[in-house]
Amino acid sequence: MDVFDQYSAKEAHKLLEQFVSFIKKGYHKEKIKQVLDLRIGNTALAELYSMARARINAKNKQLPHLFFNLDDLRFCTHQLVAEYRAKQVKGNVVDLCSGVGIQALAFAKQAKHVLAIEVDPRKVSYAKKNAELLNIKNITFLEGNVLAAEIIQQVKEFHPDVVFCDPERLPEEKERAVENIQPDLHALVKKYGFCKNIMIELPPQIKKIPFEGEKEYISISHELNRLTVYLNRENKNSVVLLPTEEKISGLPEKKQFEKAETPLQYLYEIDPAVIKAELDLLKNEKCIFFYEHLITSNEFIKNNFLTAYSVIFFSKSKSEIIEKLKELNAGSVIIKGKVDEKEYWTIRNNFEKELTGNKTFYLFLQEYYCVAEKLLLP
Ligand SMILES: C[S@@+](CC[C@H](N)C(=O)[O-])C[C@H]1O[C@@H](n2cnc3c(N)ncnc32)[C@H](O)[C@@H]1O
Repeated sequence: MDVFDQYSAKEAHKLLEQFVSFIKKGYHKEKIKQVLDLRIGNTALAELYSMARARINAKNKQLPHLFFNLDDLRFCTHQLVAEYRAKQVKGNVVDLCSGVGIQALAFAKQAKHVLAIEVDPRKVSYAKKNAELLNIKNITFLEGNVLAAEIIQQVKEFHPDVVFCDPERLPEEKERAVENIQPDLHALVKKYGFCKNIMIELPPQIKKIPFEGEKEYISISHELNRLTVYLNRENKNSVVLLPTEEKISGLPEKKQFEKAETPLQYLYEIDPAVIKAELDLLKNEKCIFFYEHLITSNEFIKNNFLTAYSVIFFSKSKSEIIEKLKELNAGSVIIKGKVDEKEYWTIRNNFEKELTGNKTFYLFLQEYYCVAEKLLLP
């Protein structure tokens, strides 16, 4: 059912690794075909090329070199998330919409047995090869529509302790909405209601979440990554930081900060998952709002859900800031604040062309230019 039909997982893996090494040497796909003496058509060659490139890019998600193409990789769960989520399950686990199986394979390391269901036969085939390569045996793959009666019957007979679903969303949308997700999640929750533990992954940007339960926002190195809704848990919001797995939870509330005129001694960026979860982690802290998701205080706040900076200098004058940066022996500045992505490098280069030193500072741009240093918490 895939380009590797006649290969074992080990053989296919070896071939892809050769492909990867030739890409890294700068070879074009036609040249690789020639060198490896591959007797395949253009479609198969394009797929091999995409799979090899996906292996090169997989390190962004900390994934091992497995079987997936570039398009699959976009939807693969980050390895840290897959491992963290796997720790939340035990017994018989069902993975609905399992794709090439990243989450299902992580579940298998913690669960008694995993039943992984996916509608796309090519992905099922890659997922099976992934399990074979990793020597994971307590997993069964089913090809089919998770809303189909015969699939639901097979899940019932499996007696699941947990049903997990990571559905398909559009690659991009102006505003994320549950209605654009496949399969229909309302129907899915109804049909799988016989299982008391249902976990659903949703795009974390989604505004209206039509399910009760714990909404767990996951951030990796302070970048918002995933949202899991645990339908059986108490209705609240939580945030998990990866890789440390530190967690906070509570009821959402919108905090109104007093607005600061100028930055104070410290600046703090609030983790984007905390913002999404609307958790107030600064209840007992003396701090005021600076702008956007940045707060400022004269007190040092030790909290892993914040990124702390020490303010060195601020001014409304760009030339004063450049003089100060020169004095500090700055060579590069990481721009922070409300900056259009497209203009980021133009703005940064504009400052850096004046600098000849070897130190890196953070430069917050708003009403004031503010030079700061990142504080690494012990
Ligand atoms: C986001 S991906 C899953 C990724 C997977 N969790 C991983 O970590 O590798 C969603 C998958 O849902 C599948 N899908 C969409 N609708 C489906 C349905 N009705 N039944 C089964 N699978 C479906 C898509 O083919 C796609 O592979």
